Amino acid sequence: MSKALTEAQQHSNRSKDETFAEVVQRRLSRRGFLKGGLAGASLLVLGPVILGRRDDVAAAPEPTLTFQPIALSEEDRVIVSPGYAVTVLIRWGDPIHPDAPAFDVKHQTAERQALQFGYNCDWLDFFPLPHHLSPNASRGLLAVNHEYTNPELMFLGYVPGSPTQEQVDVEIAAHGLSIVEVVRLPIGGWRYRLSSDFNRRLTGETEIVITGAAAGHDWMKTSYDPAGTRVRGMLNNCAGGKTPWGTILTCEENFHQYFANRDALPDDDPRKAVHTRYGLPTGASERRWELYHPRFDLAQEPNEPFRFGWVVEIDPYDPHFVPKKRTALGRFRHEGATCVVALDGRVAVYSGDDERFEYLYKFVTAGQYDARRREANFGLLDEGTLYVARFHDDGTGEWLPLVFGQGPLTPANGFNSQGDVLINTRGAADLLGATQTDRPEDIETNPVTGKVYCVMTNNTRRTAEDVDAANPRADNRHGHIIELTEDDNDHMAQTFTWEIFLLCGDPDNPDDGAYFAGFDPRLVSPISSPDNITFDLRGNLWIATDGQPSTFGKNDGIYAVPVEGPERGYVRQFLSGVPGGEMASLAFNPHNHALFCSVQHPGEGSTLAAPSSTWPDGTTPPRPSVIAVERESGGSRVIGS
Ligand code: FEO
Ligand code: CA
Ligand code: CA
Ligand code: CA
Repeated sequence: MSKALTEAQQHSNRSKDETFAEVVQRRLSRRGFLKGGLAGASLLVLGPVILGRRDDVAAAPEPTLTFQPIALSEEDRVIVSPGYAVTVLIRWGDPIHPDAPAFDVKHQTAERQALQFGYNCDWLDFFPLPHHLSPNASRGLLAVNHEYTNPELMFLGYVPGSPTQEQVDVEIAAHGLSIVEVVRLPIGGWRYRLSSDFNRRLTGETEIVITGAAAGHDWMKTSYDPAGTRVRGMLNNCAGGKTPWGTILTCEENFHQYFANRDALPDDDPRKAVHTRYGLPTGASERRWELYHPRFDLAQEPNEPFRFGWVVEIDPYDPHFVPKKRTALGRFRHEGATCVVALDGRVAVYSGDDERFEYLYKFVTAGQYDARRREANFGLLDEGTLYVARFHDDGTGEWLPLVFGQGPLTPANGFNSQGDVLINTRGAADLLGATQTDRPEDIETNPVTGKVYCVMTNNTRRTAEDVDAANPRADNRHGHIIELTEDDNDHMAQTFTWEIFLLCGDPDNPDDGAYFAGFDPRLVSPISSPDNITFDLRGNLWIATDGQPSTFGKNDGIYAVPVEGPERGYVRQFLSGVPGGEMASLAFNPHNHALFCSVQHPGEGSTLAAPSSTWPDGTTPPRPSVIAVERESGGSRVIGS
């Protein structure tokens, strides 16, 4: 038995003295309790977001995932469990307005791209029409991030390090987000409506207002924006979330890569230390946007990077809504923003900082959610408290407040305002002694139990010397998932308990030290590099992966696993993506009859002249696309059952 497995078993307990047999026994007796408990259905009526203190929450349903698992694949096609059908819903370059030009890879321009679906679709979610509380599951708005660009797969003859201005401008226009209206056809399958008035593109040039305590801060001011309250565009929008009032939260992740020449700043400029903590390049950027746009050159605009790394709020129901960068939620490589309304009406927002050894965060609003007046909530994310997580080895943990003037966050340590704390969130969290984790990707709450699932995608730089209980494997190639329970199941809590839910890997390879919540590893599917997750209405966890080509030599996929009941930990593969592609995100429609997924960067690692994938059209170029998965027979049975 590997060291890691032993540790996982220990961490799944509060007591390190408990043996594996005792762990299993505890699980089994818990299962017995669960079977005798209330059915999950009684909890579902509370809705997917309104959760809080409940003593009856331990109920678990009978197994509800009955789909036939598939195997890992290297094929250049999307493979899904038998009985399911895949529709390619929208592809990079598809026009989203009636007057937009058709996609032509050889004649792409920034103007064309800004009217077409962007590149590298990532986080997505479904917003029902005609309004956010509608039960309509067949017509809605799909919001889709466009995280980044692969110019080597977008332009024939692209020369790395020496792009043309037209190529750079197309890339900027291919970033951002799309909102498109989608409908389910009566015969099954989904399509988007080209002529919908809701359709909208946001790009790296769309004007966005800056709100919250960092707005107007001296470090937010540039020659374009002397007031520090307006910014051009959003970049590297990876994951995201949906607010209870039906707006989009889209998160800027690896923004550092767009900015060049950190070394142009003198060493005694305090901004340089912050740019260093955030990993900005010392010299030229890889994309070289600074060749044509001075704002990406720190020698000319040393403050522009402070205006990125935020969570952006957008109302998909208002095509004229001016997006807002909500600085109160902190600045880091945001992966996701998952909202939960607590019993007292305040809203918690969970988010991770996706880099090796970075932290998990929770923001708690000062005000309360108003379910009756939607617009009353539009400033809710501007005031509140940001916390960072510390995991203790005994299975407890605490949320440490990042508040100016409290603890070490004082002028003596370079913090003179809450704006300082927010702009340099990482530096503030360092001082508080937060737990360095194995790259936090998605964090989601289970709509049935209220538990919080934190995905640590991988971290091959962790050594045997710096493992801890929450990050228990050295050379963590395959990643893991932590199950976090807020004290009293209250999302306002400042303390929590936690255990390891999954240590990913190949169950047939003992060297991987994989662990599946105690479930028989001989029955589960191999899984590596979990990234985005979501829950179905019955509380089963669905996992999309990003990294299996490098760990397994196989395509990324989508998996499902129960988190309660006798099949807790029974991981099964539902879908396989394509070569070079990441299964970047996944979301169900409200009735769970359709699963939307982003297939990101098909063919990554190759070039347009000889792509390793020609998905989805069987021709060059490969095109990042959103797919919809339904039952072949249509009908009303939910996905996975
Ligand atoms: Fe862009 Fe954290 O994945
Ligand atoms: Ca991700
Ligand atoms: Ca998610
Ligand atoms: Ca990832």
